[in-house]
Amino acid sequence: MALDEIAPDTYRISTYVPEINLQFNQFLVADDEPLLYHTGMRGLFPRVLEEVARVIDPSRLRWVSFSHFESDECGALNDWLTVAPRAEPVCSVVGALVSVNDFALRPARALGDGEVLETGRRRFRFLQTPHVPHCWEAGLMFEETGGTLLCSDLFTHTGDVAPVTSSDVVGPFRDALVADFGGPLAGAYPYTPQTDETLRRLAALRPQTLALMHGSTFVGDGEGALRDLAAAMRELLAA
Ligand SMILES: [Fe+2]
Ligand SMILES: [Fe+2]
Repeated sequence: MALDEIAPDTYRISTYVPEINLQFNQFLVADDEPLLYHTGMRGLFPRVLEEVARVIDPSRLRWVSFSHFESDECGALNDWLTVAPRAEPVCSVVGALVSVNDFALRPARALGDGEVLETGRRRFRFLQTPHVPHCWEAGLMFEETGGTLLCSDLFTHTGDVAPVTSSDVVGPFRDALVADFGGPLAGAYPYTPQTDETLRRLAALRPQTLALMHGSTFVGDGEGALRDLAAAMRELLAA
């Protein structure tokens, strides 16, 4: 397990799982109202809690957000809501209606497309992105003051890679898609009539940091990376 500050006050907590050659990353934004993006699976909770405690008192956590309803995104949600009495889930309206308000110990703050969550110095704009990276309820968060896109499963790549990279992240995604997402994981990335437009909308935000759930955080031309990702997904998935 590793803890790295990948942007000011933004910490990446990473666990490499050798059996599947994949990292699982959570992001803690240590603002006045601290936000955790992705909880990790329930099995990871004790270790992620330890890492969060190195940065803040975990009971201060205020917001627990994630893209879509899967265990690596929100499996440990209720563990966090238990250790942090003021914490609330943050997700899309669809996520709240379909799963989170039933599953979670407390109701979610459900965000509509374009809505902003302020945590003190940071402003998180919520973007509704159905089926990007996957799932009907998917959304992503863009932290506007620092230009960080919390991009969930976009750009997923395998290996026990460095916390931060400035080199190409689309090539490793392509490789993972071709080599590792056959078999039972084929179909992880749907390609819908809205996929290209959604990725272009993300590119237009011109992020400077792309915080990936699986793989290195990318620092650099996020707009270019998202345009390249759109092209790769069109080529590999649209057919
Ligand atoms: Fe996912
Ligand atoms: Fe994931």
